[in-house]
Amino acid sequence: MASRSCLSIILAAGEGTRMKSALPKVLHKIAGLPMVAHVARSAEAAGAGDLALVIGHGADEMRKAAAKFAPRAESFVQDKRLGTAHAVLAARDAIARGYDDVLVMFGDTPLIEAGALTAAREKLAEGAAVVVLGFRTPNPTGYGRLIEADGKLAAIREEKDCSEQERRITFCNSGLMAIDGKHALKLLDAVGNANAKGEFYLTDIVAIAAAQGLDVFATEASFENALGINNRAELAEGEAIWQKRRRREAMLDGVTLVAPDTVFFAYDTEIGADAYIEPNVFFGPGVTVEGGAVIHAFSHIEGAEIGPGAEIGPFARLRPGADIAERAKIGNFCEVKKSTIEAGAKISHLSYIGDARVGADANIGAGTITCNYNGYTKSHTDIGRGAFIGSNSSLVAPVSIGDGGNVAAGSVITEDVPADALAFGRARQKTLPERGRMLRERLASAKKAAE
Ligand code: UD1
Ligand code: CA
Repeated sequence: MASRSCLSIILAAGEGTRMKSALPKVLHKIAGLPMVAHVARSAEAAGAGDLALVIGHGADEMRKAAAKFAPRAESFVQDKRLGTAHAVLAARDAIARGYDDVLVMFGDTPLIEAGALTAAREKLAEGAAVVVLGFRTPNPTGYGRLIEADGKLAAIREEKDCSEQERRITFCNSGLMAIDGKHALKLLDAVGNANAKGEFYLTDIVAIAAAQGLDVFATEASFENALGINNRAELAEGEAIWQKRRRREAMLDGVTLVAPDTVFFAYDTEIGADAYIEPNVFFGPGVTVEGGAVIHAFSHIEGAEIGPGAEIGPFARLRPGADIAERAKIGNFCEVKKSTIEAGAKISHLSYIGDARVGADANIGAGTITCNYNGYTKSHTDIGRGAFIGSNSSLVAPVSIGDGGNVAAGSVITEDVPADALAFGRARQKTLPERGRMLRERLASAKKAAE
């Protein structure tokens, strides 16, 4: 099959009115990635060749997004929405280049798995002219029904065009279709629009091919593969299914999830075996967690790298550019952004570390703040190996603390501290014997006199 060339066409011209959104429907995200990009990734994972995107509604936004998630894809604009066959023909020039296989997918069916695409292509390799991915559901309302005869597929009937009896069929069209490239244009050009909706239905090519004596088959996939997202409730349903799949995959790969239903992954989260994840953890895009790391409960993590044996949380927030090396510790109510925390360093309580380097084995006391922003520009804080920052200190960047440097608690540090120096950035304490009692007595009698 690898020797068969393939064009994957993703239909994404629809407006998706039921999302009630300014954003084109297929750009709504699941696990931090646009739905249509999930489809493109599955196509890529299946080795499904060149990619063509059919866009229409929100074409500019779609192009911009596609440049990121599928930079090699060609975009074709469908000006008017005249149906799914018409949409496929927007990519006529690509189809005409001549491919062995033409795969058609819907941008709003994000849970399609690479395996389903491969299975359909295998049938083409065996000689089928058209292969439709079907699924069974007790509630087929709204889906096209697969009408079989003699072990082959005879037709797909859209809900609105079904007879009473056909409507009871529970074997449905997922929307994924694989077409033998030598027949594709001829079949698509034969589609008319004499139906209930007056649209050019892609599904009509099944009956057209069958009438020409070509072989048409249905393959079967799970309902999840076929889930079409039309509104935000279905988007949440899609997210839930995706997360469930990913959690299972992580656990089977050796990651402990104490309460899997409460951990949320992004499309690209990478987690090594023997990572240990407590309940209620959220991963945004761009996170790598190495084996042996522990993520405690209620941590929110995005764009971060977490080294082996590091410990994060509970209640930690790691933002983009947080690079946490092996055995480092980020404790409760700490936020780290765009900073490198070197091996074994500890930031245990209530700190903000931004635009900084914290050297190996340094200890950052509770309530330490790197003052990295003056309202206009960001500046860097450099903290050396083995440095000790006393609690409740403000490090006003740009500033550096040398290796082994020691900052007294409660300091506001505005000047560099050399290696091994001790810096006090606070007023010296004055202690007045007996004056506490005197003050108390004076205040008490003043209050009494006023009553
Ligand atoms: C379609 C199928 C139906 C199947 C169902 C699965 C047809 C005629 N019907 O119905 O058999 O069970 O999907 O979810 O194919 N699109 C365009 N341009 C158009 C029309 C559609 O790009 O002119 C895109 C849409 O953006 C969407 C996809 O094609 O991504 C499917 O279109 P939609 O109108 O949702 O088809 P359904 O009525 O759901
Ligand atoms: Ca649909």
